[in-house]
Amino acid sequence: NGEEVQSQDYLFKIVLIGDSAVGKSNLLARFARDEFYSNSKSTIGVEFQTQKMDIDGKEVKAQIWDTAGQERFRAVTSAYYRGAVGALVVYDISRRPTFDSIGRWLNELHTHSDMNVVTILVGNKKDLEDCREVSTAEGQALAEAQGLFFMETSALDSSNVAAAFETVVKEIY
Ligand code: GTP
Ligand code: MG
Repeated sequence: NGEEVQSQDYLFKIVLIGDSAVGKSNLLARFARDEFYSNSKSTIGVEFQTQKMDIDGKEVKAQIWDTAGQERFRAVTSAYYRGAVGALVVYDISRRPTFDSIGRWLNELHTHSDMNVVTILVGNKKDLEDCREVSTAEGQALAEAQGLFFMETSALDSSNVAAAFETVVKEIY
């Protein structure tokens, strides 16, 4: 029926990528279920959740895919990226090595998906201000150089989590 066709039209696949333990699964849990796990285990394989969103008064569905940051736990890379129209590339503001990996994640994204995939660079764990190792300005500068949106988030205290997903979906839509 018409309703089905319409919802199909607005089903957007979005992928979460970034090093292990940057908080990808918790960003998804916070966004989709308003939950947070202080002791979450590494993701094994692939999980996804479909989340209804209201964008400018229209209902759209984001199908958000989450996989492991660690190579040995990851599923087939090409299948993970296939059909993605949006990406959140995540690092942890309290661990510089996760920021240093961003270039590698962007390479992988661009190898396996369309160059036009709407991408936001996400500096997660902004609640850990006392242990910050990557400044906001550095994140912003990298995003600008790579032509990405940018936001700092906290899955723990919820700040900017919905905003980060909405930024991507709005731009796709
Ligand atoms: P992989 O599945 O291994 O790739 O890791 P991941 O990126 O999915 O990380 P995950 O969401 O499992 O979070 C890793 C750890 O960081 C967990 O102990 C979380 O509780 C914690 N964490 C996630 N987001 C935040 C945050 O915004 N702030 C703080 N303080 N801790 C967070
Ligand atoms: Mg995970």
